[in-house]
Amino acid sequence: MDIRNYEQYITAETMMGPNCIRILEELFNKYPLQSGPDSLILDLGCGMGITSLVIARETGANVYANDLWVSAEENGKRFAQWGIGTQVTPICEDANNFQFEEKQFDALISIDAYHYFAGYKGFFQEKILPFMKDNGVVLIGIPGLKNEYTDRAEELLSDWLGDEAYMFKSPKIWEDLIGSNNRIETVKTWEMDCFDKAWDEWFAVNNELSNGDRQHFETIIRPYTCFVGIYIKLK
Ligand SMILES: C[S@@+](CC[C@H](N)C(=O)[O-])C[C@H]1O[C@@H](n2cnc3c(N)ncnc32)[C@H](O)[C@@H]1O
Repeated sequence: MDIRNYEQYITAETMMGPNCIRILEELFNKYPLQSGPDSLILDLGCGMGITSLVIARETGANVYANDLWVSAEENGKRFAQWGIGTQVTPICEDANNFQFEEKQFDALISIDAYHYFAGYKGFFQEKILPFMKDNGVVLIGIPGLKNEYTDRAEELLSDWLGDEAYMFKSPKIWEDLIGSNNRIETVKTWEMDCFDKAWDEWFAVNNELSNGDRQHFETIIRPYTCFVGIYIKLK
């Protein structure tokens, strides 16, 4: 994937945090998906839908673009403008209460969203796994805590994140939260490489939110946090 193909879509309107396309690029490079027009991929917590655009273009698959805070109507208008209205279906549902069919998705991708709702043991296996096809793949990229600071999120991050600090967990903890199951073949979690680039590209957006984050970058974000990559391969 060549991220330059998507530069025109990276704007103050579509960005909600560190460059989600940069995070997605690293996941795709490390674990290329074998998907095509017969595949169905869930983009979980797609925000303004820019990751759904990239997933659709890069894989050729059909995409369900799900988000809670951004309405299906708003994302649907953007998808039509971007020329992907027939390939990408906008959905507005809470990840805690999906009503999909069993074994519907070939892959699930979630960028900068999974930590909002999935940070407890049992979430993946109870709320996500039933909807995944056999041999399915899950790729997740989220902000988290470096392994050496495991379990110290509230102490270290509260000045930046307030009462959302608890959501930041280390790669080790995420591996444990996904757990094992007779349908899970492999779980890998790691500290991603794209940290500096994804943050720099967010600061370049230069809006109120990114300027707020910039105030904490050298003192909190860079020393203690990372992006956690999660790869799950099903049997
Ligand atoms: C920081 S935004 C990131 C959006 C997008 N993935 C990106 O990187 O630009 C986090 C997203 O998580 C979604 N989210 C939070 N809780 C959710 C839930 N319970 N179910 C589905 N989506 C949720 C929000 O709607 C929000 O758009």
